[in-house]
Amino acid sequence: MKQRGSILWLTGLSGAGKTTIAKGVAQELQKRNYLTEVLDGDIVRTYLSQGLGFSKQDRDTNVQRIGFVANLLSRNGIIAIAAVISPYRQVREELKQTTTNFIEIYVQAALAVCESRDVKGLYAKARAGQIKHFTGISDPYEEPINPDIICQTDQFTVEQCVNQVLHYLETQGLISTDFLDRS
Ligand code: ADX
Repeated sequence: MKQRGSILWLTGLSGAGKTTIAKGVAQELQKRNYLTEVLDGDIVRTYLSQGLGFSKQDRDTNVQRIGFVANLLSRNGIIAIAAVISPYRQVREELKQTTTNFIEIYVQAALAVCESRDVKGLYAKARAGQIKHFTGISDPYEEPINPDIICQTDQFTVEQCVNQVLHYLETQGLISTDFLDRS
């Protein structure tokens, strides 16, 4: 059976766990022979979005570019997994309206938790004023109003969050029911 493409759009604060969940979901899907591609904000910004900064306009452009590529992949049957802060609601909504099988996943953790993780040391720099317009500190993050999935990474393990996504895909008929046997 031909694989159905989709766009799994992981939005959330820096350090919330978007990349970790994206990689985990991709790994599980690949084990089942699904074709996937992860589009990670940090990596995309060194290629496709090189030169873009963090103004609203540049962030929206970044999101539109990633959405464009995700849509190309998805319409060719690939499960495209985007891990991007994408802090502005309207541009996310536009993507949802203009693509098919767009699944908005809010990767949610309290700011204090993300800050305490500070995986890249950026929150400390932002607090010290060395990075301006840092999401959650000195720049806005507009939470999704009605996301398809909320992964609460400060309350559940990575494995639980990954399974939550897989189960959702199954209930939507986007992957086969094999995953239901797992829990
Ligand atoms: S988005 O806002 O345009 O969606 P994106 O996910 O591509 O962001 O990139 C965010 C990454 O850029 C963060 O994980 C962090 O490593 C880095 N970064 C550098 N400056 C900032 C900033 N001012 N705000 C947020 N992230 C920043």
